[in-house]
Amino acid sequence: MSFNKKTVKDIELKGKTVLVRADYNVPLLDGKITDDYRIKKSLPTVKYLLEQHCKVIICSHLGRPDGQPNPEFSLFPVAKRLQQLLDHQVEFASDCVGPAAEKAASSMKAAQVLLLENLRFHPEEEADDDGFAKKLAALAEVFVQDGFGVVHRKHASTDAITYHLPSVAGFLLETEVDTITNAMEKPKRPLAAVIGGAKIADKLELIEKFIAKADFVAVGGAMANTFLASEGIDVAESLIDKADLTLAKHIRELAEQETKKRDFVFYLPQDAVVASRIDEKAPTRIVDFSAHVIAAIENYPKRPPAASGQVHAHEKILDIGPFSASFIAGALQLVETAIWNGTLGVTETESLRGPIGPYAHGTETVIEALLGEFGHRPFSVIGGGDTVGYIEERKLVESFNHVSTGGGASLELMAGKKLPGIEALENK
Ligand code: 3PG
Repeated sequence: MSFNKKTVKDIELKGKTVLVRADYNVPLLDGKITDDYRIKKSLPTVKYLLEQHCKVIICSHLGRPDGQPNPEFSLFPVAKRLQQLLDHQVEFASDCVGPAAEKAASSMKAAQVLLLENLRFHPEEEADDDGFAKKLAALAEVFVQDGFGVVHRKHASTDAITYHLPSVAGFLLETEVDTITNAMEKPKRPLAAVIGGAKIADKLELIEKFIAKADFVAVGGAMANTFLASEGIDVAESLIDKADLTLAKHIRELAEQETKKRDFVFYLPQDAVVASRIDEKAPTRIVDFSAHVIAAIENYPKRPPAASGQVHAHEKILDIGPFSASFIAGALQLVETAIWNGTLGVTETESLRGPIGPYAHGTETVIEALLGEFGHRPFSVIGGGDTVGYIEERKLVESFNHVSTGGGASLELMAGKKLPGIEALENK
């Protein structure tokens, strides 16, 4: 399957004024960008348009300023970083529509770049307002959607705008969609999916899709606690979502049906790292509940858990255990494609023990396996905000085959949903 929307390569752009929708929703600390991955990934399209002598006007949102101008959410720091990364002058307009934007746009010359202020300073952006889209569209002759991270939103700059300008995709959007849909729909098999994170409900459709498509699905992170609790294991103080207990049972049933149809493994952690508090000085313990998990899988609910398999009353599960991490890493040695979404334990890295926190070993083992440290390197696709944030902190973002710039957008695309910001573009 290949991308079926027109891209910047499919239309004549020479010398035109082009409005690019980017996703420059980057993390800021005290006005400084702490991670510029999304900006870097937008460069190929911007550079291509400059080569075509276009006037390149870029718009984006940053954060959730609730339709009000707010200097905390200004894109000005992004303009400065973009200028450095592009090594090309970037002008900045203090508003995305109205006199400031119109003046800045009308004084542009060929091969110039202008970044507009945050779209979400206007409530009309999130309301998918047609009048607002018209004003944006009036600045340019062509619209290029390259903000993959935001195409799951039906906003003026992802949807309504496309009714007013010829609308095509940029290179980032094309690569994201191609890579993610190929990994899901026609991967080199076997295909493994490793899923972490807190809430099952947030990733239900994704997990269902993985059960239908993958050969091996492993669950970690806080959502694994909910699965374990639904098997009757006492997880004591561990983070679980009570509302998700029924979903956990539903997923287990789905997985069991799948194992009856074909060679398929749904893997729940068999052991865990526990501590009484999230504090690197708190002593950790490994709890082995494999006997209980196996008993549950084999449908012998009365078989008692192994004596060692107890999370004590004051303890919480903070990471998958070493056995489970090794099992998942071993499985990743046997697959050709691996999709990973969600860290497997608490991965804050502000640790006196170095950049890797005490509950990040499960996640780190998976990273090693994906990067070929144990000999085999599957094609790796990484999605989801938290996972990508962690990989960025570890400065490993360039090491995988594909690290998505999308959070919600990559989850929805993997789950097979149609995304409004993609649907709205012209077909090939
Ligand atoms: C993201 O960071 O996932 C995108 O920029 C979308 O942001 P939003 O969730 O505020 O719409």
